[in-house]
Amino acid sequence: MNLFLHALFVTIYSSTLVASAGWEFVVNGTSGILALEAIIVSPTLAIFFDFSGTGGPLQINGHSAWGALWNLETNQATALDVVSDTFCASGGILSNGTMVSVGGMQLTGTPATDGRMGLRIFEPCSSPDGEGCTLFDNPDLVHLAETRWYPSSLRIFDGSLMIVGGIHEATPFYNTDPVNSFEFFPSKDGGVPRPSAFLERSLTANLFPRQVSSEVRVHVSELSISVYLLSPMVKSSWSQTTRYVSSEHATFINLPSFQSIIYDIEADIETILPDLPNGVRATNPFDGTITLLPLSPPLYIPEVLVCGGTNTSDQIPALNLSSQDPASDQCSRITLTPAGIKKGWEVERMLEGRMMPEMILLPNGQVLIINGAQTGYAAISSVGVIQGNSNADHAAFTPSLYDPTAPLGHRISNKGLPTTDIARMYHSSVSLTPSGNILLAGSNPNVNVNETVKFPTEFRVQYLNPPWISLPRPTLSGVPAKIAFNSKFAVRVTIPAHVAAFPVVKVALMDLGYSSHAFHSSSRLVWLEAKLSSDRKTLEISSPPNNRVYPPGPGYIYLTVGDTTSIGAHVMVGSGAPPPVPDQGRKF
Ligand SMILES: *[C@@H]1O[C@H](CO)[C@@H](O)[C@H](O)[C@H]1NC(C)=O
Ligand SMILES: *[C@@H]1O[C@H](CO)[C@@H](O)[C@H](O)[C@H]1NC(C)=O
Ligand SMILES: *[C@@H]1O[C@H](CO)[C@@H](O)[C@H](O)[C@H]1NC(C)=O
Ligand SMILES: *[C@@H]1O[C@H](CO)[C@@H](O)[C@H](O)[C@H]1NC(C)=O
Ligand SMILES: *[C@@H]1O[C@H](CO)[C@@H](O)[C@H](O)[C@H]1NC(C)=O
Repeated sequence: MNLFLHALFVTIYSSTLVASAGWEFVVNGTSGILALEAIIVSPTLAIFFDFSGTGGPLQINGHSAWGALWNLETNQATALDVVSDTFCASGGILSNGTMVSVGGMQLTGTPATDGRMGLRIFEPCSSPDGEGCTLFDNPDLVHLAETRWYPSSLRIFDGSLMIVGGIHEATPFYNTDPVNSFEFFPSKDGGVPRPSAFLERSLTANLFPRQVSSEVRVHVSELSISVYLLSPMVKSSWSQTTRYVSSEHATFINLPSFQSIIYDIEADIETILPDLPNGVRATNPFDGTITLLPLSPPLYIPEVLVCGGTNTSDQIPALNLSSQDPASDQCSRITLTPAGIKKGWEVERMLEGRMMPEMILLPNGQVLIINGAQTGYAAISSVGVIQGNSNADHAAFTPSLYDPTAPLGHRISNKGLPTTDIARMYHSSVSLTPSGNILLAGSNPNVNVNETVKFPTEFRVQYLNPPWISLPRPTLSGVPAKIAFNSKFAVRVTIPAHVAAFPVVKVALMDLGYSSHAFHSSSRLVWLEAKLSSDRKTLEISSPPNNRVYPPGPGYIYLTVGDTTSIGAHVMVGSGAPPPVPDQGRKF
């Protein structure tokens, strides 16, 4: 289609169908527990985790439950039998599809056992309503090497989880008893945690370090800058102009405070990145949020976006802070190539300040910025001026969209987005669902159930429905259950009439991530190369080239035509073997 026709088509399309469909918030069901963490574990199920002492209405074994399976089809919660305390834990899914919940709190006076070394295992569940699927939680048998409350977890290139940081003991605000180390599940290094100079340096606002896994590759190029990204070998020759082709190296970016590093997991090397501009901090209790932007073939160059948080100093005693202090409206973006790092962070502003926002990658490549407060901080009853029990105030009720492909200064908009009246403050969770809408739950800046404050314990579950939920949608069928790296597979598609003339189809492979404390670890979107047959009924899709571009494990494939997106098809990417899995696919 030529450009003129395309423009004409888009005009007609927008004035008819899109005008009748819009974004909307819909409340449906109650979570029964406080959903302070959320993860999608199958096409029909999510898991929520809570604090064992909240005291929500959902019961198990004669007490309030603190874990629940959420049925995305019936919008009902079923209690899970959790043994240890999951308060402020994290988690992820391994290369064999098993969900692992990591860390938690030590408590007395609740039904839970000490959760700080928790490794709770939920095996892949094929029953649509979760019948027969249980959580294995026995800290005596399976546990971390260190006690970790407020750690982060991330699936890496070999399908294991990398577990970062945390605190040993309960703290009201700052990290005063830090766990300055990394460890893995299944364990590496003989089970001995790796000390981290970075976590040491980034105290005291460094809880829930924001991690993003990426592979930084440098293709044949002229390099003459004085930072290094990759192996020790590369490092030693880096300060001169060097011409080389790199091999594969696993890295992740980790962002406590305003500091960030690239960490080469295999070589155990930190590379210090430029600080976030303007003194903005983004880790708990100054929660901003981070996402890896969609990765595109052929180079899959990683770009990282950080939004919200605060520019307050972490040297100010908590009692001198106020729930009325403005949150940061800053979004900072960096490209993880030598040139991108040299250029540094690019800054742009959200439409409002946000403490505790989350960013959700959407299957069309946009990023939803949602939740949080316009003033204050994370955590409960610890700053000098609180709102009820909340360290934050002025909920942000209207989400925004960030378009990574738009020019700087034009990426963020809330045009067409609805406003809710449910505040999602501290201890909220959110996730894209396999159906392609957004699940929202939780919020409780109170220790127990409290219905009398401005920001009460929130049990209402809500969906944010994008326009494609109510339009005729493209469909994918015959998607293989398992796809090998660097392979091609054909699927059948149907494309509804109202988008039939759109020349471009986009295929996203997505990890839906794990939502805890305003951060969506492991979330990822990889664009897959796809060729539509001339009759527009078959799509030939290329899988990711290797396990560095998409860490092996489950994902969902969505097809977007025009602005209409299909339901996601559940796939296992890679062999589905337990971690650690060897490198797979094609190197480049
Ligand atoms: C809520 O979910 C149920 C079960 O899926 C569905 O039947 C009902 O239509 C939904 N209600 C709304 C308002 O979306
Ligand atoms: C904190 O507040 C106290 C009491 O108002 C004051 O004396 C002190 O200087 C403040 N400290 C800082 C670092 O702002
Ligand atoms: C800190 O953030 C506030 C609120 O966004 C802003 O008004 C102020 O200019 C910022 N200060 C600096 C030094 O960037
Ligand atoms: C709710 O929080 C308020 C403010 O701290 C407190 O006065 C009230 O007692 C709390 N209610 C319950 C049920 O804990
Ligand atoms: C997946 O791997 C983990 C870690 O080795 C193991 O605990 C779990 O039982 C495995 N599950 C399956 C289904 O292979």
